[in-house]
Amino acid sequence: MRAYADAARTAIERCRWIASRTEHDGCITRTFLSPPMRDVHDHLRAWMEELGMSVRVDPAGNLRGTTGPGPAVIIGSHLDTVPDAGAFDGVLGVVLGISLVQLLAGDSPVDIEVIGFSEEEGVRFGVPFIGSRALVGDARSVLTCTDAAGVSVRAALQAYGLDPEQLDHAQLSPDALAFLEVHIEQGPVLGHLSAPLGVVESIAGQSRVDLTFTGHANHAGTTPMGSRRDALAAAAEWVGVVERLAIATPGLVATVGRLQASPNACNAINGRVTASLDVRHADDVQRLQAVSSLLAEARLVADRRGLDVSHTLQLDQAAVLMAPALTEALARAVAATGRQVHRMTSGAGHDAMIVARRLPSAMLFLRTPGGISHHPDELVLEDDVAAALEVGVHWLTHWERDRA
Ligand code: HGY
Ligand code: MN
Ligand code: MN
Repeated sequence: MRAYADAARTAIERCRWIASRTEHDGCITRTFLSPPMRDVHDHLRAWMEELGMSVRVDPAGNLRGTTGPGPAVIIGSHLDTVPDAGAFDGVLGVVLGISLVQLLAGDSPVDIEVIGFSEEEGVRFGVPFIGSRALVGDARSVLTCTDAAGVSVRAALQAYGLDPEQLDHAQLSPDALAFLEVHIEQGPVLGHLSAPLGVVESIAGQSRVDLTFTGHANHAGTTPMGSRRDALAAAAEWVGVVERLAIATPGLVATVGRLQASPNACNAINGRVTASLDVRHADDVQRLQAVSSLLAEARLVADRRGLDVSHTLQLDQAAVLMAPALTEALARAVAATGRQVHRMTSGAGHDAMIVARRLPSAMLFLRTPGGISHHPDELVLEDDVAAALEVGVHWLTHWERDRA
């Protein structure tokens, strides 16, 4: 038990160190292959090579370490963050993969590949899951996406010293056995249950849409209220509609996380506003119904105010079931270590929903104290990390018996 406690303490220390590799002092922000990511890769590489693992960065910028050439169970998560993030979202799953290799010390019945995905949040280019999409051969279409500075994914890969033409070499090996993502819950459920761990049965589907409200900029002092075509007032009215629909629809969450107004000056009426829409539901029919209703509502608001509104679909990600056999084995491992099994749906999206297209995948959640995530106050408890490691060792050492 002490080995798990010591490993948990080291894992948290490592996550806290990685959190210090950031694009902006004073907060945790690390986007796709930004300069601090190289530091993170160097340190994770060193920790893996100390264990005798062979390490590479694949053409999609994923950091990958393997214990051997054999068919492997992949353990991983993402290394990028949202702006002003917490220290554990994504990173914990990569660090714990290394901890599990260390704890197993060669006793694992299968080889293990630890992967730190290059981009899951979608912050830099507006499209999420670039790293895990490369594993399933679905990243080529994002190479032309550009960031706010007009840099393409292709150019960002080349700037990092990678060759986008080799993208296919990032794909999963055909003999890969399974994927396990250990991740913080990022919500309040396990905390309310006073449960350290959760077994994820499915991941809610998510839609991401960018809307543009176009009116007419004008002088704030001279333009009568009745003749304005105020894009920010229209967007604000619509944000209220989004919130009311989500509150009224069981199981639906809908968020306008980003509003960009132009000219965005205190004495000018905004002529153009872009708004992001993030809609999630465990049931895809309800999610898609909500998206189409909210787009229709945006049109009504715009028409009433004499504006135009357009939208671009950025993501339509269906809900994904985790592999039942793996999930049952994970539940058995949780029970075998003397803990209550809590099966749940993930409201947050994860790389597992992409890898699951090609590989049986499972997720183990750790309690998020206070249910706070995508925020610097994000936490994990040392005992919960030790519990996750004990479960992971049990799940892996019983692999042959429980193989999917
Ligand atoms: O947005 C999400 O669900 C995840 O944190 N990327
Ligand atoms: Mn996240
Ligand atoms: Mn995450």
